Amino acid sequence: MKFTLNGAATDVTSHPMTRLMDVLRVECGLTGTKEGCGEGECGACTVLVNGAPVCSCLVPLAQVEGSDVLTIEGLNGEHPLQQLFMNEVGAQCGICTPGMILTALSLGPAPTLDDIKTTLAGNLCRCTGYSAIYRAVCKWRGLEEPT
Ligand code: FES
Ligand code: FES
Repeated sequence: MKFTLNGAATDVTSHPMTRLMDVLRVECGLTGTKEGCGEGECGACTVLVNGAPVCSCLVPLAQVEGSDVLTIEGLNGEHPLQQLFMNEVGAQCGICTPGMILTALSLGPAPTLDDIKTTLAGNLCRCTGYSAIYRAVCKWRGLEEPT
């Protein structure tokens, strides 16, 4: 099954009905994609498929054939939002962090704070209370920071 993974052509041998999350973590060795609930409820497993956030625990491999998949490893630790999450302490245990960051990348132009909250509403965090996460995303998008 062929698709593009973090900008590189990839050919994997997992069964077409294997969860994308397992293909990424097990066959591709990219463990930055986290399993939280495994049921599409928490957003920890979010990756971008053709630029749109999807829960990789719900998506079978067959569904991404020919698609462009981006995981947190594709940012190489060099995206400014990753640094802002560290600066603002938007990551604690880190389970939600890859999914939060990738979902935030899907924000449209000139988002408001409400847009950010709505976009990230499917990504649950049990540690931070969300304020630090919103601060990081606001700083990245040049918005006045929430208090
Ligand atoms: S692990 Fe996929 S949504 Fe929770
Ligand atoms: S940092 Fe622990 S769940 Fe968000």
